Amino acid sequence: MARPIALITGASAGIGNAFAHGLARRGYDLVVVARDTARLEALAKEVEAAHGTSTEVLTADLCDSKQLAVVEARLADAEHPIELLVNNAGFGTMGHFKDLPIDGEAQEIALNVVALTRLTHAALPNMLERRTGGVINVASMAAFQPTPGNATYGATKAFVSSLSQGIHEELRGTGVNCMSLCPGFTRTEFQQRAGIDSSDVPNFLWQDASTVVDSALKSFEKGKAMCVPGPLNRATAGFSATVPSGVSRRIAGAIVKRSEK
Ligand SMILES: NC(=O)c1ccc[n+]([C@@H]2O[C@H](COP(=O)([O-])OP(=O)(O)OC[C@H]3O[C@@H](n4cnc5c(N)ncnc54)[C@H](OP(=O)(O)O)[C@@H]3O)[C@@H](O)[C@H]2O)c1
Repeated sequence: MARPIALITGASAGIGNAFAHGLARRGYDLVVVARDTARLEALAKEVEAAHGTSTEVLTADLCDSKQLAVVEARLADAEHPIELLVNNAGFGTMGHFKDLPIDGEAQEIALNVVALTRLTHAALPNMLERRTGGVINVASMAAFQPTPGNATYGATKAFVSSLSQGIHEELRGTGVNCMSLCPGFTRTEFQQRAGIDSSDVPNFLWQDASTVVDSALKSFEKGKAMCVPGPLNRATAGFSATVPSGVSRRIAGAIVKRSEK
């Protein structure tokens, strides 16, 4: 029988890289997408040596509509169907909204929202035809309340989580799943790329990317709509869901004000 194929965006680093290793270990072949070809090729060699995985390297800047269209076309290819799409590529910008260059905010929306939405849309028809597979969309704990200090980022992740759960319900009974993954602080290149100084975040709040991915794949295999990895993150998400939105918003604002002093 042919091995299932997973397409992972943002596979050159962090959580996407951990998805590539986790899925290769589970017997998937891979299509890996990011801008850094050398890192994707190194990943392809690693998973081939470790698991005999066959990997297609697809270099693309997903903020560029022409390059994004190539990835959409790969997802729509019924001859070589994608069993699992992991929409993981994303980045954050840090600072007060009024002070941030608008082009950076627009790029963030282009990647975290537009690319993810287009790729999900391109992937579903083949999956539905075959009545198998699905999509994991990487949101964040930032999805659960407004995030002053990185307001656009939180808004993009609230969109991802809402979209994914809406699609999850639309897909009920089809054999295809769409799941939102909401990690908390995860050791990757994310903070460095966002220019966030996370040295004062206590150790117990951090997870490794491989722990996040194990949790995500277990939840996806159970057909869940959402995965919040780790008991502490689940407790925080539960708290945000029970307090009035004005309270969680003000708490988030107070935490940011304190960190800015
Ligand atoms: N780390 C955390 O604490 C955390 C918490 C919650 C949610 N998340 C989410 O987890 C996801 C993965 O982030 P990470 O933590 O693994 O960050 P990361 O280590 O910075 O990795 C980001 C990945 O996205 C790719 N990427 C960035 N811009 C791209 C573009 N324009 N086109 C194609 N690929 C692009 C990067 O590859 P190239 O540079 O090679 O293109 C890289 O592979 C993101 O959606 C993030 O919002 C992270």
